[in-house]
Amino acid sequence: MSGRRREAGTVSGDAAVRIERGLPDGGPAAGSAAAGDVRAGDPLAGVRADLTRLEAVLSDDSGIEYPLVSELLRYVFAGGGKRLRPALVFLVARLGRADDDAVTCLAAAVETLHTATLVHDDLVDGALLRRGLPALNVRWSPGATVLAGDWLFARAARFAADTNDIGVQHIFARTLQTITAGELRQLFGRRGIPTGDEYTARIYGKTASLFEAATEATAMLAALTEPEVAGLAAYGRHVGTAFQIMDDILDFTGDPDRLGKPVGGDLRSGQVTLPTMLHLAAHPTAAPWLTAPGGDEPDAAAVAALVDAVRADRAAITGAHDAARDAVAQAVAHLGVLPAGAARDDLAAVASYAVARDV
Ligand code: IPE
Ligand code: IPE
Ligand code: MG
Ligand code: MG
Repeated sequence: MSGRRREAGTVSGDAAVRIERGLPDGGPAAGSAAAGDVRAGDPLAGVRADLTRLEAVLSDDSGIEYPLVSELLRYVFAGGGKRLRPALVFLVARLGRADDDAVTCLAAAVETLHTATLVHDDLVDGALLRRGLPALNVRWSPGATVLAGDWLFARAARFAADTNDIGVQHIFARTLQTITAGELRQLFGRRGIPTGDEYTARIYGKTASLFEAATEATAMLAALTEPEVAGLAAYGRHVGTAFQIMDDILDFTGDPDRLGKPVGGDLRSGQVTLPTMLHLAAHPTAAPWLTAPGGDEPDAAAVAALVDAVRADRAAITGAHDAARDAVAQAVAHLGVLPAGAARDDLAAVASYAVARDV
């Protein structure tokens, strides 16, 4: 592992990509290609200062005695990341009166929890690249990677505890269980093509639940009214849904250099997501090994051909975009419980960004 100025990773295998990321001044997140693009669309301009402050908290290694753990922290956060979940925390906090320190702890808890899930997710998926750097599991043994993820989960829990809010702590614990149960369901679940309901449940477990937790917990910290808390929870859930559908689209259409992670990986690891579901609905014989479970294991060439076919299927990609935009519309509708104003407009802009992005 290395510090933030090494930052060019050479990874072998099918994600053989050499990424040069010069990180300009202004902190690691602001320096990543991903964060730069968020700023270009500017939905986070109002909380940029909060996000800059957060960087120091995320990688603060004071009190950590074991140098390898300090290095771990620097490594997982220096690669950047969009910081979208903590941005939602800071945006929602502006709607009420929350203690600044508690809000920062919540933002750190949410981003650290998210990062821990990525560490374990990459190990489970055998992914090679994350945030433009070799995934931790490329550098470390599986055992060490599991323990590193555990350490990050524990740190996230401490941040949640430091909010001194029992409601936040409950939401944090509930969400961690939801995410983990969702990952287990995905790992052991039925292979083949999911139904629409199964797909919705999967993206709630892996992504939408954490967005929901971020907005709901912050609304509670900010002492908003019950309808506002419920509306913001629903807003977060729909934004997270849109965000994951877009992630699933970008796995076909994205540029791996800009994404900082490989593309085509979902089908390679056996995950059928919305673009593939729509492609197969229109072309039922395109992938017999998926439509007739129990059939032959696909070879790499067959999977690659399906990836290409889905990527080239404009109707499937457009249909998935439509589903993502529908989730954004639902998210924005739930903002109707809030008073009109800049804070509400910024939340609507973040919802739109979730599908307008290309990173
Ligand atoms: C990646 O999340 C995993 C998903 C839930 C889709 P992000 O796309 O927010 O990853 P970072 O934090 O920007 O790296
Ligand atoms: C990740 O979803 C969800 C969790 C980390 C729980 P994906 O598997 O789609 O995320 P990427 O594409 O690897 O970032
Ligand atoms: Mg993954
Ligand atoms: Mg993905």
